Amino acid sequence: MMVGSIGMTLLFRGVKTNQFKDLAEGDTLLLRGPFNNGLLGLQHLEAQQSSRCLILTKGIGLLPSVSAVRYLQSRHNETELYVDEGNFSPSILKFQLDLFELPFKPLTLLDDDGELSTPAKHVIRRFVADGGSLIHVGASEYVIHQVAAYLHYIGNRHVKLSACNNARMCCGEGVCGACTEITADRRVIHHCKEQVKIK
Ligand code: FES
Repeated sequence: MMVGSIGMTLLFRGVKTNQFKDLAEGDTLLLRGPFNNGLLGLQHLEAQQSSRCLILTKGIGLLPSVSAVRYLQSRHNETELYVDEGNFSPSILKFQLDLFELPFKPLTLLDDDGELSTPAKHVIRRFVADGGSLIHVGASEYVIHQVAAYLHYIGNRHVKLSACNNARMCCGEGVCGACTEITADRRVIHHCKEQVKIK
């Protein structure tokens, strides 16, 4: 048997994550996975090589984005990371960023009306104008849609989009049906198991 350690960062949000509160030292956990579809727009991420990439994250969305940043860096891409701490603990975010030695800049992604903030729009517009190649969004589905809509609004044609898969992920195994969607061509897909284009 292999012995080691796994670090986990948890945000207690609902029935499932709250189960962790009752755990005590010495309790046994069964871990399943990885389920390998934590990112959407994977083909765009994999196509990057020696290009410029912008990473926008909010709250706990930073954590699944760290592997995307490190993957991009391993392929000699220049990465620019912005972090909106949201309602997540700044100390935990800082711990993760220090752990992976990731320089970042703070950025509030949404304004008080829930719209993409002016500073966020500025960052995106500058990145597009400067010939950037990929934007990766590690945030809620709502923020992902806001960024995608803004890229469309400014007439972007060359910057690709990838994002963490927040589409109603539940079991992650294609079993529970929580992420089921019917496509325009009447295909039933599970977001946790299929790569889809982000629009
Ligand atoms: S999350 Fe359960 S089927 Fe996709």
